[in-house]
Amino acid sequence: PHPPLIDPFARPITYLRVSVTDRCDFRCVYCMAEHMQFLPKAELLTLEELDRLCTAFIGMGVRKLRITGGEPLVRRGIMGFFRQVSRHLGDGLDELTLTTNGSQLGRFAPDLAACGVRRVNVSLDTLDADKFARITRWGRLPQVLDGIRAATAAGLRVKINAVALKGVNDDELFDLVGWCGDQGHDLTFIEVMPMGDLGAEDRLDQYWPLSDLRARLADRFTLTDLAERSGGPARYVRLDETGQKIGFITPLTHNFCESCNRVRVTCTGELYMCLGQEDMADLRSPLRASPDDAPLRAAIRTAITRKPRGHDFDYSRQTVAGQMTRHMSHTGG
Ligand code: GTP
Ligand code: 5AD
Ligand code: SF4
Repeated sequence: PHPPLIDPFARPITYLRVSVTDRCDFRCVYCMAEHMQFLPKAELLTLEELDRLCTAFIGMGVRKLRITGGEPLVRRGIMGFFRQVSRHLGDGLDELTLTTNGSQLGRFAPDLAACGVRRVNVSLDTLDADKFARITRWGRLPQVLDGIRAATAAGLRVKINAVALKGVNDDELFDLVGWCGDQGHDLTFIEVMPMGDLGAEDRLDQYWPLSDLRARLADRFTLTDLAERSGGPARYVRLDETGQKIGFITPLTHNFCESCNRVRVTCTGELYMCLGQEDMADLRSPLRASPDDAPLRAAIRTAITRKPRGHDFDYSRQTVAGQMTRHMSHTGG
């Protein structure tokens, strides 16, 4: 056993998010450019290297592993990778999960369940097929709904992630809540962050503070704050009338960085200490330099000493600050 990873602000790093591909079969407007330049395949870590990397982090105290992308389920051979890393479940690793756009769940849900995955987060901002096509550019809503059904049928719990977008899905708040309640899915709203191609408007016109969303929910439901955390950034409330759980991820209105427990690795082995900062460390070189993991562990440890206090995203003065040109798809959210 190696000493745990503790950052300069005394935060233990127990949650690793690993992006296994920069590709996606959708082009969500807030996540990717319409014409993305993807990495040549030779740049990517192999699935064996990704497994070594995850194993090294688990050896240093990571207990929760979330596979992301791009869309993780479009990486060729990904099920073999899930099967490999699932050997750590119950032996260091508490949770193996993924964030997906849902398009491939129809194919993969039973295999994921067989690998010990218990829940999946599916990104779904709207239940309106036309709007869905506009947001995702390339996506088709029925395919995602089929995928979600397949996940439920396979015994997976589904958490829906909806980016809150003013003028886009604010008219659907109660539809989304009602649908998730009927289907038995948890639902989490996310404040849109200024990353990637912001265009002329800085996305400010779409920024919908979750404090407003919460107030609208409180008009119709009795909200009870829940103390529980999922190990992620969301805070949860229960709607007393329906019993369902609603999460809020509020990087803008209520920064949660003081309890940050996570870091991210991209599909090329860049370790990002913070979603909202540029600083990263290259892990591909130490991975490839030696079959021994000691240099890799040393590189990780050094990088963690540089983990910043938090992000600088800010929309509060009606202008955008802390903006990041890096696309969300690069680090997987
Ligand atoms: P669970 O709580 O386990 O369900 O997962 P999670 O909320 O950590 O994971 P998920 O992939 O569902 O995260 C949803 C979104 O929240 C991400 O895609 C990001 O947009 C945002 N998010 C997650 N972690 C952070 C973080 O550390 N900082 C910021 N600013 N945003 C984050
Ligand atoms: N701001 C907030 N959330 C985003 N996501 C993608 N881009 C952004 C952004 N700019 C969300 C997706 C998905 C998760 C991986 O990140 O909707 O749920
Ligand atoms: Fe952690 Fe950075 Fe997210 Fe803050 S913005 S919670 S420091 S990853």
